[in-house]
Amino acid sequence: MEKSNRVAVYPGSFDPITKGHVDIINRTSEIFDRVVIAVLKNMTKKPWFDFEERVQLIKKVIGQNEKIEVKCFDGLLVDFMEQNNAGVIIRGLRAVSDYEYELQLSLTNSMLSNNKIETIFLPASRENLYLSSSIVKEISLYGAKIEELVDESIVEDIKRRAKEMKEVK
Ligand code: PNS
Repeated sequence: MEKSNRVAVYPGSFDPITKGHVDIINRTSEIFDRVVIAVLKNMTKKPWFDFEERVQLIKKVIGQNEKIEVKCFDGLLVDFMEQNNAGVIIRGLRAVSDYEYELQLSLTNSMLSNNKIETIFLPASRENLYLSSSIVKEISLYGAKIEELVDESIVEDIKRRAKEMKEVK
């Protein structure tokens, strides 16, 4: 089957999904016919949430939307792209510090796909410029408010996990 540029894949760890991710997902769904959120199963850094939990949190936040699908992947992103007949990867860009890593990812994916896969960067919205899953985890460990950083539907899930993480430390 021909790969489609109408399908965009938004890959990431989503440990956990933040308002920054949600903003990129919503904006992508305005541009493309279909958005596949691709959750990396096995991360090098030990995640707070296993991949099934990360998928559940995303589904809770996104709700029912016929344009948006959540899937997991393992191995190379380009293989997942091929299996899903998708030609475009979406990545959000925050500060300049993201650029080098993102360029590396996009050039590698381009090389691995014989230039068939394109990466499109969406600039983070102003309010999300310095927001990351790591910041959410870090401050929730110390009991700080995370309501402005993640969707309210998952605030309690994160606070509960933060408490558990503190207990095992
Ligand atoms: O949210 P993240 O952690 O910045 O997402 C990184 C991700 C999942 C996009 C990247 O690590 C990835 O694509 N991993 C799969 C392995 C792969 O394809 N590597 C080649 C590109 S360097």
